[in-house]
Amino acid sequence: MLTEKDFIATSYNSIESASFEWSAPSNIALVKYWGKKENQIPANPSISFTLNNCKTITKLDVVKKLENNSFSFDLLFEGKPKEDFKPKIQKFFERIEKYCPFLKDYHFKIDTQNTFPHSSGIASSASGMAALAMNIMSLEKTINPAISDDYFYSKASFLARLGSGSACRSIKGEVVVWGNHVQINGSSDLFGVEFSEIHSNFKNYQDTILLVDKGEKQVSSTVGHDLMHNHPYAERRFAQAHENLSQIKAILSSGNVAEFIKIVESEALTLHAMMMTSMPYFILMKPNTLEIINKIWKFRNGTQIPVCFTLDAGANVHVLYPESVKENVLQFIQDELVGYCQNGQYICDEIGNGAKSN
Ligand code: DP6
Repeated sequence: MLTEKDFIATSYNSIESASFEWSAPSNIALVKYWGKKENQIPANPSISFTLNNCKTITKLDVVKKLENNSFSFDLLFEGKPKEDFKPKIQKFFERIEKYCPFLKDYHFKIDTQNTFPHSSGIASSASGMAALAMNIMSLEKTINPAISDDYFYSKASFLARLGSGSACRSIKGEVVVWGNHVQINGSSDLFGVEFSEIHSNFKNYQDTILLVDKGEKQVSSTVGHDLMHNHPYAERRFAQAHENLSQIKAILSSGNVAEFIKIVESEALTLHAMMMTSMPYFILMKPNTLEIINKIWKFRNGTQIPVCFTLDAGANVHVLYPESVKENVLQFIQDELVGYCQNGQYICDEIGNGAKSN
């Protein structure tokens, strides 16, 4: 079992220059991470589907520099310098320096782009931090070729977590668990692990993301997580996440889609209930979010087609359904849900399997 100390790079050599490129996907949590302790340790375990189409593609150019007392990097977003992203990257480098002491030896050019529209309200922190972490691990592997594949991916997830918690679930695997859970072998608070006992009912599961509100979030996830400190329902919620993870583990293995729906929708509403009951309190759903939820319930009751929803910390709705009912559900979305989306926009995605080197 890898511990925090194992991720401190100690022996490595030096290179003059190198270039790497990785893409990493977004992910959608089924059991949600909401609340954290020091050092990006989650207050409860979570599990997510890795997405396939919504991703960040990041190229990293590395050049050795003479002094090594500060971080040095240029940041390009869609080919243009992007100063407002730099503090986040600076903070990320500071957090991971202990584990990657070679970072100050190099100047970096980070050139990044997303496959989804920037202002879509889809968080790019998970895919963005995962793609950057993969590139940094490629650098580490170049200066220390002895590291194993297993270590490479576990440390990439460990580093991504320090950038943004949910990013550690965007590295490897179709379904990923992050956080200690008694029933999941090898699970860790430090990095995500692949969960592979998946019934064929969940293979190629679909996620159509309905863009209800593309505006800036009212509350950042970081502030949101913080509101779970001294939250009146926090302890019960953290315990419930463990229970729901036990249940969903069994459900994903047995293929029981009806039970899957109950846990996933309840988790989404619980996440929003936590926001509504914190101090200060927030409502991140919009009227159209509720319209969509009600339409989904009505459609499901009327047709018995197993479609359900989940939510992130925002107003957009992720519509989840088996591949076998794709045609029916897309028709339903076209006929009844598109009208609730901003400018009629939605994104068709499905389960994918993690970061890729380009
Ligand atoms: C609601 O991973 O964005 O999407 O660790 O502060 O970067 P930080 O938070 P972040 O939180 C995501 C919260 C969530 C639920 C989830 O993805 O599990």
